[in-house]
Amino acid sequence: MESRPLAPALARLAALLAGLLAGPLAPAAAWATPFPPCTPGACTLREAAARAGIAIGAALEAGQATLADPAGALVAAELSSVTPENAGKWQTLSPAPGVYDFAGLDAIVAYAEAHALRVRGHTLVWGRSNGPPAWLEAALAATPDPAAYLRALVREHAGTVVSRYAGRIESWDVVNEPLALFTGEPDPASPYQRVLGTGFIGEAFHAARAADPTARLFLNEIFTEFRDAKFDGLVALLRDLLADGVPIDGVGLQGHFGFGAPDRADLTAKLGALAALGLDVEITELDLPMLLFESAADPLAAQAAAYADVFAACLAVARCTGITTWGVGDGDSWLDRAEIFSFFAPNRPLLFDASLAPKPAYFAVREVLLAVPEPGPGVLLGLGAAALAGRPGTRPGRSARTDPATRALAPPTPPA
Ligand code: XIL
Repeated sequence: MESRPLAPALARLAALLAGLLAGPLAPAAAWATPFPPCTPGACTLREAAARAGIAIGAALEAGQATLADPAGALVAAELSSVTPENAGKWQTLSPAPGVYDFAGLDAIVAYAEAHALRVRGHTLVWGRSNGPPAWLEAALAATPDPAAYLRALVREHAGTVVSRYAGRIESWDVVNEPLALFTGEPDPASPYQRVLGTGFIGEAFHAARAADPTARLFLNEIFTEFRDAKFDGLVALLRDLLADGVPIDGVGLQGHFGFGAPDRADLTAKLGALAALGLDVEITELDLPMLLFESAADPLAAQAAAYADVFAACLAVARCTGITTWGVGDGDSWLDRAEIFSFFAPNRPLLFDASLAPKPAYFAVREVLLAVPEPGPGVLLGLGAAALAGRPGTRPGRSARTDPATRALAPPTPPA
C-alpha cells in the first residue's frame, strides 16, 4: 500500500509543526512518542500503547524499582508508566508528625526517569487502609481545634510532597476514594471527611496545584464500575467540585473488577460520561481475578477477552489517557492478601503469570492496541502537540475491535 510508508514521515512532520506551535521549550515526553516503529507480533505493550495514544503501566513497590528485580526489569522493558503501589502514601512517607522519609518514592521516580517511564503519583489524601499516617488519630485527639489542625496538615502535606517532585511526577491521585466503599455517599470512615467534611477535597487539590501547576490532578475512586449508584455519586461530587472551581484535571476508575467481569459498553459509557465533564480519565488499578472466569471453558482466554474489553472501552473514549494494572506478575497481587479476595488466592489477576511470562491477556491487550488505525495528519497534529507538551492529550475517539467476553457465573456479591 502506498500510504503506509508515509505515516512515519507525516508523524514527524506533524510533531515538528506541533512543536513550533507549542513553543521552543516544550519537551517531548519519551513515553508518549506517537507511532514508534514496531512489528505487529513483536511490539512491546509500551510500543503498542504509544501507537494507540495511551500510557500503559503497572504498580510497583519501591524495592522492585530496579533492573535487578525481575518485575522492575519487565516494567522498564514492556510498559510506559509506573505507579508507586505503597511508596507514595502518607502513611509510608511520614512516620511521625512533621517527619518525612522519601527514600522509597525517590527510588521509584529515579528508576522511572532512567527508563523513560511516566509516574502516576499515588496518593496524597486517602482515608482508608494504609492511607492516613499512623499517628493521625492521636494527633487529632490531642489538638484543641481538630478542623483547623487537619486543614493545615492536608495543605502542608500536599504542598510538601507535590513540590518535591514538581515536573517529574506527571499526574497525582490527589484524593483517593472519597466515597463510601459501596455507595455514592461521602466515606463516613474517612478521618478527613469526619473532621473537615467534603471541603478537604478542595483543600488538597488547591495545595497540589500551587505546588506543581503542570501535574495533572486526579480524583481516584474504587468500585464505581459495577455500582451505578456509586458512579452517580462520583459524577455528582465531580460536578460540585468543578462548580466550586476546584482544580481537578482527571478522574481515575481503579478497575478492581473482583465482583464481576467488565461490561465493555457500560464501561465505555461511564468513561465517556466522565470525559463529558471536561476531565481526562484513566483506569488506574486494573485487575481481573480468575474467580470471574472459572466457569468458562478456557478461563485464561476468558480473562484475556475481559482485559481486551477494558482496553477497548478506554480506546473508545478520546480523553482516556492510560491504563495501569495493580501489580506486574500474578505472584505479587495485593488481592491474595486483601480482605475477601485472599480467600480466592491465588487470584492470578494480571497480564503476567507468577514467573512473569506473558499470559493470553497480554497478547489480547496488545492486539487491541495495535488494532487502532493510524490516524490522518490532522489527528497526528493533536498527538504531536500533546507529546511535545509532555503530557498525554486528547486522542481521536474511535472504537477498537470487539471481543466477546465469557461472563462469570458466580463472582462474590458485594454487601447491599
Ligand atoms: C493496596 C496495596 O496494594 C496493598 O499492598 C496495601 O496493603 C493496601 O493498599 N485501592 C488503592 C490502592 O487505591 O492504594 C490499594 O493498594 C488498593 C485499593
